[in-house]
Amino acid sequence: MDVGIDRLGFYTPKKYIDIVELANERGVDPDKFTIGIGQSKQAVPDIYQDAVTMAAEAADNVLDDDNRSDIGLVIVGTESSVDESKAVSAFLMDLLELPEDVRAFEIKEACYGATAGLQMAYNFVAMNPDKKALVIASDIARYGIKTPGEVTQGAGAVAMIVSKNPHILKLENKSVYMSRNVGDFWRPTFSKTAFARGKFSNEIYVDFFTTLWKKFQDKYGVTADDFDTMLFHIPYTKMGMKALRTLDGKIPDDKYSELVEHYQKSVEFSRNVGNLYTGSLYLGLISYLVNGEVKPDEKLMLFSYGSGAVGEIYSAEVVSGYEKYLDSDFIKQELKNRQKISVSDYENIFSKGLVNGDTTALSDVHDKFYLSEIKESERLYKKVN
Ligand code: HMG
Repeated sequence: MDVGIDRLGFYTPKKYIDIVELANERGVDPDKFTIGIGQSKQAVPDIYQDAVTMAAEAADNVLDDDNRSDIGLVIVGTESSVDESKAVSAFLMDLLELPEDVRAFEIKEACYGATAGLQMAYNFVAMNPDKKALVIASDIARYGIKTPGEVTQGAGAVAMIVSKNPHILKLENKSVYMSRNVGDFWRPTFSKTAFARGKFSNEIYVDFFTTLWKKFQDKYGVTADDFDTMLFHIPYTKMGMKALRTLDGKIPDDKYSELVEHYQKSVEFSRNVGNLYTGSLYLGLISYLVNGEVKPDEKLMLFSYGSGAVGEIYSAEVVSGYEKYLDSDFIKQELKNRQKISVSDYENIFSKGLVNGDTTALSDVHDKFYLSEIKESERLYKKVN
């Protein structure tokens, strides 16, 4: 029985900043940000948005009356959680009208969370073939104003429905993984912004990829020739390229060129959104499926990396005819119809947030789901009717 991703939904906030404007404001050569880092636009979440509202938006795009009642597992991968106790998934139960007989919880391990969720979902569906799993990655990447990481911020969510006989991606149950205690990136509970040893984090990322790629080849007796495309966690679009470059000269030139060409298609959306943390790899998948010239039954290698650190490489196969099940036009329109805001407006939003006793005026809301109130320190959410 094939198990994999049956539906894929994406959400990113409606506001963004232009990276050239950010560079100019920061007194940096714009080429550093657009070429050296590889970003063009950065999503800016509104004050009424957080990991819960964005998760709800992405999942709302894939749930329908046919699949909702089959969901038996809900996992949210996030490192932007809003509560130390209550999982993001609990808030989603009524927002998304999910059935009560589900296991719903949150997973955290930096940008690896959604991959952990996806692998658990695979096992769940393999054991319960008539059930489906909803896996959501939802995050706001925040480093802080005028920090080196600022150019790599971003926000958004990806929702995946995992089922038997999937219509988008078959997971092949072939994977290798590794974990190591590394201080490359962390966010203590007192802080709203992450701390990063930037260059060290780049080195660890590449080291994990190199180690895992060798393990994968040894374990399954495959080479780069067995894959049409390699997808990477994309904290910024240059990062995956640094890992891919380690193959240059070690694999046939035409295969390397093909992988680079496909990689460029996979980062088109990230270039215009920024880091989604745990959703980034899956935004890369969406970007490739929407923008690439995907052959029937293409073989993919996916590299997931979460600081701290956990890495995993696994393989998958694109299902022919997936186009009917992925709303490419909607995703493109959502990205196109966003509003550019100035760097000072972004700085203003960045420093604000609802506090206890605050409510959100409906007239300020431009999305379906929003944080409506914080009452007795409890976050209350609503859906616009
Ligand atoms: P930085 O020190 O500002 O930049 O930090 P730099 O000096 O290293 O320059 C960046 C690149 O721009 C370099 O290219 C320069 O040569 C180039 P590279 O050597 O890397 O190929 N450059 C220029 N290019 C064209 N024209 C110019 C020019 N000037 C310079 N004029 C850094 C960059 C990414 C470190 C910083 O933004 C940062 O700390 N970001 C956050 C950490 C991060 O994203 N790490 C990635 C790996 S860890 C990961 O992926 C996990 C993560 O997603 C978190 C999680 O798991 O939850 C982050």
